[in-house]
Amino acid sequence: MLHSQFVSLLALAGTALAAPSGDVTKRAQTVYLAGDSTMAKANGVTTGWGVFLPYSLSLPVVNKAIGGRSSRSFTREGRFDEIIKAVQPNDIVVIEFGHNDGGSLSTDNGRSVCGGAGTETCQTTYNGVAETVHTFPWYLTEAGKAIIAKGAKVIMSSQTPNNPWESGTFSYGDGGRFVGYAKAVATALGSNAIYVDHGAYTANYFKGIGKAATDKLFPQDHTHTSPVGADFVSKAFVKGLQCGGGGFLKGFVKNETASIVGSCL
Ligand SMILES: *[C@@H]1O[C@H](CO)[C@@H](O)[C@H](O)[C@H]1NC(C)=O
Repeated sequence: MLHSQFVSLLALAGTALAAPSGDVTKRAQTVYLAGDSTMAKANGVTTGWGVFLPYSLSLPVVNKAIGGRSSRSFTREGRFDEIIKAVQPNDIVVIEFGHNDGGSLSTDNGRSVCGGAGTETCQTTYNGVAETVHTFPWYLTEAGKAIIAKGAKVIMSSQTPNNPWESGTFSYGDGGRFVGYAKAVATALGSNAIYVDHGAYTANYFKGIGKAATDKLFPQDHTHTSPVGADFVSKAFVKGLQCGGGGFLKGFVKNETASIVGSCL
């Protein structure tokens, strides 16, 4: 064998082994997180809730969320593909998008989705590249199907609310169209997917603590929480999950449901 061939073979083996916990064949069941800045780790006065989820679970959590992304840009940049490639049977992928998915394609920011709930498409040119843009449900459904095809499970989670006290009085309706879509996608994916209404559980927590306390958790804008806020947003996810029976994480949540802040909705 030529030396260069041997080296590239080694490089290939290295890639295959570079899974989160090292050994791809024997590692623990793993939870992957796919989302935007409200889930991702940040280092400033704000951070995302995915940072705190590991405190509540007895499984390893790999947070692949990244700021500024939408279902579309997470797909286009190959970030879902990376997760799909990494998952093994019984791994769990939590998917939560919506904050960056709105907007219009007439001034395309690379994130806005095509309107509609089905297989509608829109044509655009982003960064000089022609792109067929799909709907929010389409992106999430394609990712979900591929994850499930690998034997893994999907938790579709609704997007977190912006500060529901910003108008002065508490206001949270149905969470907007991306919340409804997340739920519909979970249903359509079947028994290997569940839905957690994270938005409603988070809003309910903010309602309970009142305006002054909620405002303090949004130090910068109405979308991004402080680390203390992110910890509660994480707990709201776990509460919603547990109130629904725990789903694929049943038995892996460290906390008694009653001990988690908030009430079941
Ligand atoms: C569960 O308990 C741990 C401490 O053991 C804590 O850090 C975490 O925030 C709790 N999670 C919830 C959802 O209450």
